[in-house]
Amino acid sequence: MKILLVVLLCVCLGPLIQAQDNPGFISIDCGADNATDSVIGLSYKTDEGFIHSGQKGQVAPEYNNQRNLQLRTLRSFPDGVRNCYTLRPNQSSSNRYLIRASFFYGNYDGLSQTPVFGLYIDVNYWTTVTWNDTFEEVVYTTSRDYVHVCLVKTGSGIPYISALELRTLDNSTYNTTFRALENIWRLNVGSSIRYRYPEDVYDRIWVPIEFDWNTINTTDVSTLRNRNDPYKVPAKVLMTAQEQSNSSFRDLGISWTSNTPSRKWYAFMHFAEVRVLPSARVRQFQVYVNGDISVANFTPQYLQPVTISTSSPFDGTNLSFSILSESNFSAFINAVEIFRAIDLPTSQTDLNNVNAINEIMSTYEVFEDVWQGDPCVPGNFTWRGLSCSTDDPPLITSLNMSSSGLKGTIATAFANLTALEILDLSFNQLNGSLPEFLAFLPKLRVLNLSNNNLSGTVPEALAKKNSTSNTFILRLDGNPKLNVTNSSTRENGGRKKTHNVLPATTTAVGFALLILMLI
Ligand SMILES: *[C@@H]1O[C@H](CO)[C@@H](O)[C@H](O)[C@H]1NC(C)=O
Ligand SMILES: *[C@@H]1O[C@H](CO)[C@@H](O)[C@H](O)[C@H]1NC(C)=O
Ligand SMILES: *[C@@H]1O[C@H](CO)[C@@H](O)[C@H](O)[C@H]1NC(C)=O
Ligand SMILES: *[C@@H]1O[C@H](CO)[C@@H](O)[C@H](O)[C@H]1NC(C)=O
Ligand SMILES: *[C@@H]1O[C@H](CO)[C@@H](O)[C@H](O)[C@H]1NC(C)=O
Ligand SMILES: *[C@@H]1O[C@H](CO)[C@@H](O)[C@H](O)[C@H]1NC(C)=O
Ligand SMILES: *[C@@H]1O[C@H](CO)[C@@H](O)[C@H](O)[C@H]1NC(C)=O
Ligand SMILES: *[C@@H]1O[C@H](CO)[C@@H](O)[C@H](O)[C@H]1NC(C)=O
Ligand SMILES: *[C@@H]1O[C@H](CO)[C@@H](O)[C@H](O)[C@H]1NC(C)=O
Ligand SMILES: *[C@@H]1O[C@H](CO)[C@@H](O)[C@H](O)[C@H]1NC(C)=O
Ligand SMILES: *[C@@H]1O[C@H](CO)[C@@H](O)[C@H](O)[C@H]1NC(C)=O
Ligand SMILES: *[C@@H]1O[C@H](CO)[C@@H](O)[C@H](O)[C@H]1NC(C)=O
Repeated sequence: MKILLVVLLCVCLGPLIQAQDNPGFISIDCGADNATDSVIGLSYKTDEGFIHSGQKGQVAPEYNNQRNLQLRTLRSFPDGVRNCYTLRPNQSSSNRYLIRASFFYGNYDGLSQTPVFGLYIDVNYWTTVTWNDTFEEVVYTTSRDYVHVCLVKTGSGIPYISALELRTLDNSTYNTTFRALENIWRLNVGSSIRYRYPEDVYDRIWVPIEFDWNTINTTDVSTLRNRNDPYKVPAKVLMTAQEQSNSSFRDLGISWTSNTPSRKWYAFMHFAEVRVLPSARVRQFQVYVNGDISVANFTPQYLQPVTISTSSPFDGTNLSFSILSESNFSAFINAVEIFRAIDLPTSQTDLNNVNAINEIMSTYEVFEDVWQGDPCVPGNFTWRGLSCSTDDPPLITSLNMSSSGLKGTIATAFANLTALEILDLSFNQLNGSLPEFLAFLPKLRVLNLSNNNLSGTVPEALAKKNSTSNTFILRLDGNPKLNVTNSSTRENGGRKKTHNVLPATTTAVGFALLILMLI
């Protein structure tokens, strides 16, 4: 991480190119008032529409020399424990993305104290942000058409974010058994120039590094550029490489240490021969990872990019990969990426439930600032008013939207909350008729629609369910225009039910949930 951070300080000094939109990219300048153009020639949108909470902020004047305009503004989150951006990438071509979040504190709050907070990718922990000038990057695979990036308070200051970027990758690249890979290093070996977009079509940031080895290069950039390689490592990155300079040794090794033994790692090594070898001579390598052979008899071809990766993750605290030459020519490497595999133990809430609750939220225009990220998980961030099952995936089992200012008719989206046991919509201004589908929610045991403005009659199915089920509780009182005189209920008029238990129960639930949010 150290290497990355040092290089980050000298932000790209390329010429300002005409800014543009790229269909596979989402570029957000968090907290900005207007769209901004970046030094790399991309246009950054404001974060409007991506988030509904937080406050705009601006770095202190002494940081206004920051050339990267996107880092001069930020959004901070004094309220709520978890605040989430929702990204909706264009999924027509792939479902694997590079997601990069940038953090440039710049003493925006005048407190001169770097906040420390958690970062989540969808419902799983990604990393902790501890630096005041850094970025975090993940290669992430999802089957959904949205991705949440959430900032979570840990008690050490107010979370903030300066920029958020999503780039669509080819889904044949970085294909591992892990759905999330955190980038640790991305090195352009043998170069002194940092490259990203537009040289890199995926806008990966290649940090230059010159080991104490012999640098080799080619000037035939156009041949390198026209190769059909899905990784699309920029030709300018591949044109330089380094090989062992000590003729007694023909092998190369890169090693690092980790103080967390449980971490799992992936290395992606990019090669393209840049030396014209004497005819009938070849370079041949074995690639070792932690001393075990990973790839045997590997011969990079002249100006043909090829990517070698470990097929499974490797672990340990002293990590290394080495390229051992099997031929008379020493080993070389053009570029290398090291990733940490991120475990994603938690499943997202069932997609039908997510779509339904989002539809409910937008229909009634409520809770947009507090209903953020996944509705159910992680458990300590379950939306206010909701309870969920512990199924995999989780399902919404109760929904309390009592006294929430709901106006209009009862949305059909409630029908898709198929695991719903308790639905409390009391004390709102709901009007129109009582929809029949409510009778067909298979697990519904409490339906409280009291104190609204409903009209018409009680649908046959609902009245029947009310009269035939001993455990079903239906409350419709306080709807003056509703005709509750119904044939089924009249027949069963004598049966006793514990109706007065309900208000106490729902109030208690609402109260408990409220406490949870305030903590
Ligand atoms: C944002 O754009 C509007 C309209 O183009 C302009 O009036 C305003 O001054 C801009 N604000 C900033 C901070 O640049
Ligand atoms: C999605 O990508 C395709 C192909 O690049 C493009 O034609 C289309 O306009 C994009 N749609 C959106 C909503 O960005
Ligand atoms: C990549 O993902 C997209 C979207 O899920 C899918 O349509 C496409 O078939 C996938 N491509 C490959 C090569 O798997
Ligand atoms: C980060 O913190 C250091 C030490 O407090 C300070 O010198 C530096 O200016 C800060 N950088 C930013 C971007 O806030
Ligand atoms: C990813 O790897 C798996 C297992 O090796 C393979 O079955 C799958 O086709 C690969 N996907 C793509 C898009 O290449
Ligand atoms: C490529 O190598 C030649 C000879 O070693 C050197 O003169 C030149 O500066 C190098 N070019 C780059 C771009 O590194
Ligand atoms: C090559 O490595 C050997 C063994 O470490 C060392 O003795 C020798 O000085 C090195 N040669 C050069 C040119 O660095
Ligand atoms: C890992 O490297 C450190 C320092 O280089 C060394 O002290 C330690 O013994 C090594 N551990 C193993 C298991 O090789
Ligand atoms: C959420 O719950 C987990 C485990 O129950 C706990 O470790 C974590 O600190 C909690 N996070 C917050 C922000 O409350
Ligand atoms: C309910 O789910 C079905 C099946 O996924 C979907 O077609 C329908 O649009 C959903 N209705 C609402 C109101 O969300
Ligand atoms: C539901 O059933 C109870 C007991 O059978 C009855 O008292 C009540 O009037 C019924 N409610 C409606 C709206 O039919
Ligand atoms: C209420 O509904 C019942 C049964 O559907 C019907 O007989 C009665 O006339 C209705 N009353 C009013 C005031 O509409």
